[in-house]
Amino acid sequence: MKILVTGGAGYIGSVACERLLREGHDVLVLDNLSTGHREAVPPQAGFVDADLRDRAAVRRALAGHDLDAVMHFAAASLVGESMEDPGKYFENNVGASVNLLEEAGARGARRFVLSSTAATYGEPDRVPITEEAATAPTNPYGESKLMIERILDWYGRLRDWRWISLRYFNAAGASEERGEDRDHETHLVPLVLRAAVQGGEIRIFGDDYPTPDGTCVRDYIHIEDLADAHVRALDAMGRGVSGVFNLGNGKGFSVREVVTVAEQVVGRPIGQVVAPRRPGDPATLIASSDRAREVLGWTPAHTDLRSIVESAWRWHRAHPNGYRG
Ligand code: UFG
Repeated sequence: MKILVTGGAGYIGSVACERLLREGHDVLVLDNLSTGHREAVPPQAGFVDADLRDRAAVRRALAGHDLDAVMHFAAASLVGESMEDPGKYFENNVGASVNLLEEAGARGARRFVLSSTAATYGEPDRVPITEEAATAPTNPYGESKLMIERILDWYGRLRDWRWISLRYFNAAGASEERGEDRDHETHLVPLVLRAAVQGGEIRIFGDDYPTPDGTCVRDYIHIEDLADAHVRALDAMGRGVSGVFNLGNGKGFSVREVVTVAEQVVGRPIGQVVAPRRPGDPATLIASSDRAREVLGWTPAHTDLRSIVESAWRWHRAHPNGYRG
């Protein structure tokens, strides 16, 4: 299939490209390189530099391409930032997705996989969280992804799109060749590894949450398992499936537990200091991925936090300056 991958120069999108190419698909990456890296795009993939907020630019970028499917990774995706700059999230995520649906639709695409998020749920009533749980985002980031899901539902009804929204829990880890490299890093796992290398301290955002050790609990899922789910979603849409699916391991780890595992992997102590809560953070997010297992036939291969952190550490050591070498 000819697949347009937006955000294919980013962390999760680039690993999905690797996987799609291995499966024999024809991949076209569209990315504005605002946070991604040209070097992260596999050489066998096509590449166009365009900003999804600029519909005319998207039309020009897609001219001459006949598309079957879209995988939409490109987005602003930071919970904390979305509390400070909500407009960025609604423009970058919601508005841009409408441009994408219209222009990719005009090129023939009728299958859409969305990178969605556990942040659509907000503070859950119970864990593990199933797709039936109420959606009440506690931040504009989660709200923006929920809005895109609603838009996809209408394009499904009115424009004959099949769509699958994959609600990722906490993406982590690396493939052999691709990993996490951001100019402004805010994610726990890469920051902990950086603290281990540079000798700094990791700030723990709040230790007074209603969790066993007071720090936030998250469900960490390997990016290669996420990539696998995308391939399965394509197949499922071919069978007529549309809808929302959680992707997580079903196990929660607190911030302090992540630091402890990282200390074991790296083999040295990592400094910690308790800082105030980060606005918008729910206390606990743990997935039930039963629906993805049953309908998509998805089974995560890297269920152990230690092996996830080890893969991130391997990539970090091989690329101490990220894609710059
Ligand atoms: N944390 C710290 N110190 C840090 C960084 C993070 O204590 O320096 C804590 C956060 O407060 C949070 C946990 O570590 O409790 C994980 O934080 P991340 O920033 O790594 O990830 P988030 O849970 O905020 O968000 C991630 C993705 C979102 C997605 C969400 C779903 O970035 O896109 O997972 O669970 F929506």
